[in-house]
Amino acid sequence: MKAFALAHPNIALVKYWGKRDLAYNLPGAGSLSLTLGGLSTRTCVEFDPALRADALQLDGERITSGAKIERVSEFLDLVRERVGISTRARVTSENDFPTGAGLASSASGFAALALAATKAAGLELSPTELSILARRGSGSAARSIFGGYVEMNDGVFPFGQGANKSETGSSKEASEAAFARQIQPAAHWDLRCIIAVTSAGEKDIGSTEGMVRTQRTSPYYKQWIESVAPDIERAAQAVAARDFSALAEVAEASCLRMHASAMGAEPGIIYWNATTVALIHAVRQARAGGLPVFFTIDAGPQVKVFCPAESRAECRALLEKTAGVRQILEAHPGEGARLCEDFTRG
Ligand code: DP6
Repeated sequence: MKAFALAHPNIALVKYWGKRDLAYNLPGAGSLSLTLGGLSTRTCVEFDPALRADALQLDGERITSGAKIERVSEFLDLVRERVGISTRARVTSENDFPTGAGLASSASGFAALALAATKAAGLELSPTELSILARRGSGSAARSIFGGYVEMNDGVFPFGQGANKSETGSSKEASEAAFARQIQPAAHWDLRCIIAVTSAGEKDIGSTEGMVRTQRTSPYYKQWIESVAPDIERAAQAVAARDFSALAEVAEASCLRMHASAMGAEPGIIYWNATTVALIHAVRQARAGGLPVFFTIDAGPQVKVFCPAESRAECRALLEKTAGVRQILEAHPGEGARLCEDFTRG
């Protein structure tokens, strides 16, 4: 009744921003990401009949009440329902990257939790089933089940059939069809993701809240959602062909469209600070000068800069010389979620 699992975070090159259904956590559109090796979440789950409530320890801190433990408990309920048990669990989770780094730790967190919890409960799920389950915890977690370059399906339109089908079926049906899959393995293309931390853990508007507000109040939400399927196709082709400049164009466009839809909400959501904007310009200027780099930004002020492995030192130097950058982290294409022996190995 005890298992350890490890998962990496991922960064979307074509963003997920909006939900078709909140109860099933169904995305409003697909997305495309790279799983980031070098940064890991390790999670242990132990179902224990002696426990009266689920217990959570995150990065050494015991969490006894509030949204985090509720989210974990609700997720464990999905696993318990599936096996037909009511046993509570002890969950211990550790990130080896700083939590203030603005990396969606919910992606690696729920991917590792899905794998460790199902294993501890005696279930053997396929990667697709795990991806569906992880999605219920956090949309981006569905992608961290897989390594390398990953595409997420919206559950309504099967992979690659975005524009040709009308929306039919219930959310429950769509839920069973909304999962990620690997489109290229990690070894296909050695891109590096260099993360510029521009703020020390300021409180942002969380992704779920930001999405819901965008969806309810932004006049640009509909256009944003319509832009996603063609962008996924472009990005998948660019990845397959290892065409850096094509990927740069579509990834920056997707990121800026996502943020534009959020800025159009009421009140408008602005995740960027002055350093975020300075980095956008620095990256574009360097690219115009011949350095292969592009940026992407999630629901926070940190900037993730992609480059081919051979340009990593120059890319890093670019970020280092930008005023306001507090810390730099590096990641490379990583593998999918897997079981491990304990917190130190694996
Ligand atoms: C901006 O997966 O954190 O990072 O499903 O509500 O948990 P929930 O949202 P989450 O959203 C990630 C949003 C993003 C873009 C992306 O990763 O695709």
